[in-house]
Amino acid sequence: METESHTTRLGILGAGCIGTAIVKALLDGRLSYRLAHVLDSEAARAEALMELAGEQPAASTLEELCRDSDVIVECAHPSAVAPLVECARSVSAGRSGDQHIVVLSVGGLLDVEFHNRPAHEPAVHVLSGALGGLDAVLALRQAGLESVELTSRKPPAGLGLDVTEETVVFEGTAAEVIRLYPKNTNVAVALSLAGIGPERTRMRLIADPAIDRNVHHLVARGAAGEVEFTSRNVPFPENPKTSYLAALSAIAVLGNLGSSLRIG
Ligand SMILES: NC(=O)c1ccc[n+]([C@@H]2O[C@H](COP(=O)([O-])OP(=O)(O)OC[C@H]3O[C@@H](n4cnc5c(N)ncnc54)[C@H](O)[C@@H]3O)[C@@H](O)[C@H]2O)c1
Repeated sequence: METESHTTRLGILGAGCIGTAIVKALLDGRLSYRLAHVLDSEAARAEALMELAGEQPAASTLEELCRDSDVIVECAHPSAVAPLVECARSVSAGRSGDQHIVVLSVGGLLDVEFHNRPAHEPAVHVLSGALGGLDAVLALRQAGLESVELTSRKPPAGLGLDVTEETVVFEGTAAEVIRLYPKNTNVAVALSLAGIGPERTRMRLIADPAIDRNVHHLVARGAAGEVEFTSRNVPFPENPKTSYLAALSAIAVLGNLGSSLRIG
């Protein structure tokens, strides 16, 4: 079943929790890519991650990352996404072969125009990330969706708060919440792209001192039925805003891309 190729070049944009988890998956053989570039707005972080990977630290630019990577994982910040996609599109005519961009900071995709993809342009992938269930929402959409709602509960520290009682910190649309909490609500935008769009997807964000996990609950209703999905995710110790499942989702998608058997 092992069909992945070590010659596929991987570029990582963002050398934080998720970038590090991906490099660890390369090191222990769960993923088979050649790490070509790591880029971070803090150069020392990129160098540390390349060193962890056992590679010669590279002074990458965004253009080099886009030119020399077959697959790019964005795990930086929503503001990094539009420049990445624009740069990859601009160098794509001079590249040979398919290119894939896997985006974690999905909120940043709201600043990108999408159209029918010319063959040479990169394919941008939206991850399920910390949420899950996007495949079922996308499937329901084909018969018509009426409503999509997401409730996310986080321990207050993950929202930078110090409250002692359950507190609703936001209620509104996915389009609004990602502007206010860009590091915490990428899942809402991912769900909205799978379903009825950021203006119609409803979001409640709750700081809950009684939990030690990030809990996401989605409900989607449509002509073909109803989907409900809950994930209760362990936060990364180094960064409680991020769920471990989000990094695992990136690793799973990278495994899928490198395999002749694709699931999901
Ligand atoms: N889709 C999901 O379900 C989901 C879940 C968790 C996290 N995320 C998102 O994934 C991203 C990475 O998460 P993380 O926990 O690894 O974050 P992190 O804070 O641990 O690491 C982010 C890294 O990116 C770097 N960075 C920030 N802005 C940058 C830019 N414009 N260009 C280059 N580098 C930049 C930072 O210096 C840092 O090293 C975040 O945007 C986070 O919101 C998405």
